[in-house]
Amino acid sequence: MTGVEQILKDKGIILNREGMPRHIAIIMDGNGRWATGRGMPRALGHTQGYLTVRTISHAACELGLDALTLYAFSTENWRRPKEEVDALMALIEKAMRDEVPSYHRDNIRLMVSGCLQELPQSLQNTIAEVTRETSKNTGLVVNLAINYGGRREILEAAREAAKHACAGEIEPAEITEEYFSGLLYTRGLPDPDLLIRTAGELRVSNFLLWQIAYSELWVTETLWPDFEPADLIDAIMDYQKRTRKFGKVVQAK
Ligand code: IPE
Ligand code: IPE
Ligand code: MG
Repeated sequence: MTGVEQILKDKGIILNREGMPRHIAIIMDGNGRWATGRGMPRALGHTQGYLTVRTISHAACELGLDALTLYAFSTENWRRPKEEVDALMALIEKAMRDEVPSYHRDNIRLMVSGCLQELPQSLQNTIAEVTRETSKNTGLVVNLAINYGGRREILEAAREAAKHACAGEIEPAEITEEYFSGLLYTRGLPDPDLLIRTAGELRVSNFLLWQIAYSELWVTETLWPDFEPADLIDAIMDYQKRTRKFGKVVQAK
């Protein structure tokens, strides 16, 4: 029995397999509070947060999701003390390398969304290697958002669309939502069905501004290092109770 199956059995939960979210996005917040609450340096909170990334990625596989997008570093996080930023960059790089065997075991394809050319060169190289090495895996897509900003992403896509139009490759009127989505970092992924934020803040912090237009939101007070597969299942259970209307009139379930 897998970990997820055990949790479902223990809780007596039957998930509606037809109503599963395909893509879950998570704002992994609260690492700093987790560490400072224990009198530890913030960087240790990030190390602990990485362990949660491992367990939640594995649980997402077991649940049969298509995609899991994890917000690891925002374009605004450069404003943090250099020491913390350096520790985060080093952690992300090491984690990505260390996870290659587990990505193969779980058939995970790694994808990265963000403005990558501003990252340290060694991290850029690791991203290129690990995404290439896992590119043939056909299961869950783990999409790490690194140096990601929703506004930046939209701006870069708008510039790209403008270039195409200026080069005569497309008429401005032909720039549709589908076309534009294809210019975003997340091209190829369905929009998230469910957006989870840990650590209680009620804001989106520049995450997936275009893609979350109709995502269901779920916020928990639990800090990211304490977040467990059982919490992910709680979020999915709650999601399955919602009526998604997409602007239409739909009779409540
Ligand atoms: C989220 O945890 C991780 C990153 C932003 C990289 P925080 O470091 O923001 O944790 P808090 O919000 O300070 O508790
Ligand atoms: C959002 O968390 C960014 C990540 C989780 C990487 P922050 O901690 O940076 O967000 P704010 O500053 O509370 O909005
Ligand atoms: Mg935070």
